[in-house]
Amino acid sequence: QEGLKARGAGTGHGIHHVHVIGAGVMGGDIAAWAAMQGFNVTLQDQNAQAVQAALARAGTLFEKRLKTADRIEAARRRLAGDPEGARVGEADLVIEAIVEKVEVKRALFADIEPKMKPDALLATNTSSIVLEDLREGLARPQNFIGLHYFNPVPMLPLVEVVHHDQASGESLRRGLAFVRGHDKLPLAAASAPGFLVNRILFPYLLEAFRLREEGVPLRAIDEAAVRFGMPMGPVELADQVGLDVCAHVGAVIAPKLGVELPGGVEALIAAGKRGRKDGEGFYTYPEGKAVKPP
Ligand code: NAI
Repeated sequence: QEGLKARGAGTGHGIHHVHVIGAGVMGGDIAAWAAMQGFNVTLQDQNAQAVQAALARAGTLFEKRLKTADRIEAARRRLAGDPEGARVGEADLVIEAIVEKVEVKRALFADIEPKMKPDALLATNTSSIVLEDLREGLARPQNFIGLHYFNPVPMLPLVEVVHHDQASGESLRRGLAFVRGHDKLPLAAASAPGFLVNRILFPYLLEAFRLREEGVPLRAIDEAAVRFGMPMGPVELADQVGLDVCAHVGAVIAPKLGVELPGGVEALIAAGKRGRKDGEGFYTYPEGKAVKPP
């Protein structure tokens, strides 16, 4: 039965093997999701421990979602750690989810593009860098698109499929088909600061940070949002996303709104408190669950 779930031919994207680079919050979950949906997946990271941790997290996800031992085992077999990226040349789609720095991403692309199949898609999960800045130096910019997932990946169905003026229509079409093919909801978006979702979301997050600086208790801010109907408040969401990621996106969006990123966020980052992934951000997370001050 698992074989029936193996995608690729027949779904129009021609993607069988996905290679994910960056085994952090996003890359680890993207790799797990794709493996759960029937793709063969390899996971690269300069930090071999991050790969091991991501594989362990993936195992927990498989157990929660797949239920039967056969299906769990099949998903585990489809997902392989590949810290050094030795298997990037096997992939039909490479998804980059490393640190949000233009020069680091460009250096990675310069290293991997020559090793990739000529018709493989290269996708970035960047949340704040416009694709025009990342495609510099690529030999095949037509094969380059954005696949922007949202955190937490197993919970949020949307993926922005981002195009730029040198991306081919075929790459965009394959990107959209792949997203549908792994049970997510694609949203085509142009490469502009914040794409679409963060353009809407970040004014809300920034305003929450500003309320905090004005002395409004964090818990009151989050409770107001939750009572209004949001699944979690903006402060807890920022911790979930990672304050470093929030700072990157905020730096792009804030000038558009004529405001500045509140300094308190940078102070937390400097103190090594980037949110849930560090066990502490605005809130603390002793057992993975947010502890909110009274
Ligand atoms: P993270 O800090 O959790 O993980 C990044 C991983 O990349 C680390 O394991 C690090 O060892 C690895 N890495 C860094 N440089 C590398 C290199 N040159 N080669 C191989 N591995 C390398 O970061 P996170 O939050 O997963 O973000 C990754 C990307 O996804 C960023 O571009 C971010 O803007 C984007 N993003 C993040 C979201 C979030 O909510 N955290 C949401 C959507 C996009």
